[in-house]
Amino acid sequence: MPHDIRFSEKADELAGIAREIADKYVRPDSAKYDRLQEYNYEAAQAVAKAGLFKTFIPKEYGGHGAGILALARVTEELAKADSGFGVAFAVNALGSFPIVVGGTEEQKKKWLPQIGAGEKFVAFCLSEKFAGSDAQGLSVTAVEDGDDYIISGEKKWTTNGGVADIYSVFCVTDPNSKSRRISAIIVEKGTPGFEVKKIEDKMGIRTVPVVETHFDNVRVPKSNLIGSRPGMGFKHAMETLDFARPGVAAQAVGAAQGALDLATVYSNRRKTFGKPISSHQMVAGLLADMAIKTEAARALVYSAASAIDIRTAGGVAPNVSKLAAMAKCYATDVAMEVATDAVQIFGGYGFMEDYPIAKFFRDAKILQIYEGTNQIQRMVIARKMVKDASDLEHLEQYIPTESQVSYKKDEALQEN
Ligand code: CAA
Repeated sequence: MPHDIRFSEKADELAGIAREIADKYVRPDSAKYDRLQEYNYEAAQAVAKAGLFKTFIPKEYGGHGAGILALARVTEELAKADSGFGVAFAVNALGSFPIVVGGTEEQKKKWLPQIGAGEKFVAFCLSEKFAGSDAQGLSVTAVEDGDDYIISGEKKWTTNGGVADIYSVFCVTDPNSKSRRISAIIVEKGTPGFEVKKIEDKMGIRTVPVVETHFDNVRVPKSNLIGSRPGMGFKHAMETLDFARPGVAAQAVGAAQGALDLATVYSNRRKTFGKPISSHQMVAGLLADMAIKTEAARALVYSAASAIDIRTAGGVAPNVSKLAAMAKCYATDVAMEVATDAVQIFGGYGFMEDYPIAKFFRDAKILQIYEGTNQIQRMVIARKMVKDASDLEHLEQYIPTESQVSYKKDEALQEN
C-alpha cells in the first residue's frame, strides 16, 4: 500500500543544523577520533546545544516531536561526515525508545526531558554473549526484592556504554513464562554493582564505545521497571527496534553518500592515461551505480520512517516492522557495496589509512550486523510476507497445478 513521505519544515531545519555541525565539529577530527578510539564530546555538546537530541523526544516531554523521518535525516547528515558519530547520536534514540513506547507517564517525565536536553546520554542493553539474534534467549536476571529488583549478569555490545548515563536493560523476570519472560528496567550510571568492563577494540565506528556491561546484584527501585508491568520487555524491545532500524538505515545512507562524494571528487582529480579517471567509462559506470543504489536506499529509508510517523499519528500505513527491516537491510548492504567501490576508485590509496576512504569501508561492515543482522531482517520480511499471503489467494487460479502419476500403485497422485 503506497503512502506519503512527509517532510516537515522542522525536519528540514534540523537536517540543516546537523549538516553544519557535521562540517564544523565532526568531519575535521573524524580521523583523529577514529585513530584514538575516543568519543567526540565537543561534537556531542554541539549537537546537544543545537537541540538535536530533542528530535526524537515527544513535544510533551520537552522535545521537538519531529518523528522518525526527522531522526533519519539528522542521522544521515552526521553519518555522512563520520558513520561512527552517526551511531553515537542515533543510539540515544535506540536507548530512549523503550521509555517512549512503553514507559509510564512518570518515567517519561523523569527521563525524556533530560535526554532531549542532551544532559543525559542513553544506551540499550539487549544483547548478551549467547543471545544476539535470538533476543528471547537472555540470561541476565532481575529478581524482585521488596520494592526493588536485583539485577545480575552481563550484557555484550552495549554501544555508548560508559558515555551513557541511562541504560535500558532487558532482563529475565519470569524464567518460567514463554511469552512474558522479559522486562526492561532502567539502570543509571553509578548504581552500585553496575560496571562497564571490557571496552571493545573495534574494526570501525571507533569514536563510539562498545562495551560489556556487568551487573553484580544491582539494586534498582521497581519504579524503574519500564511500563511498571513485568513481562512486557520483549514487546518493548521489538517495538523499539522497529522505530530505531530506520535510524541505522539512515546512518548507512549517510555513510554511502559520504563515500560516494569523496570518490567523485577523487575521480575528477586523479588522472590516468592523460585524463581524469571519472571520464573512463568503467569508473563512470561505478560512480553511477553507487549513486543509483544510494538514492534508492534513501527513498526506502524515508518511506519506512514516514510510515512509522504516519502510524504514530494515528494514520494508516503499511506494516512498519517489514518496512523498517527492508530499509535497514537494503541501505546497509548498499553502504557496504558503495564503500567497497569507493575504495576501488581510490585504488592503492584507498587501502591506506592516511586517505579518508578506508575508514568508510571499515565503518560500513557493522551496519550489516548490529540492530539485527541482515539475515534477521530478511527473516522478519519473509515471515510477514508469508503471513500476508492469504491476501493473494485470488492469484491461485492463475498458477497451474502439476500432477504426476505415481509408478507405485499404492501411492496417491502428487501435486505441487
Ligand atoms: N512489535 C511488537 N511485538 C512483536 C514484534 C514487533 N515488531 N515482533 C514480535 N513481536 C511479538 C510477537 O507478537 C510475539 O508476541 P506473543 O508472544 O504475545 O505472541 C513475541 O513478540 C515473540 O515473537 P516471535 O515469535 O516472532 O519472536 P522470535 O523469538 O521468533 O524472534 C526476532 C523474533 C525478529 C528474530 C527477534 O528476536 C529479533 O529481532 N532479533 C534480533 C535482535 C536485535 O536486533 N538485536 C540487536 C540489538 S541492538 C544492537 O545491535 C546493539 C546496539 O547498541 C546498536
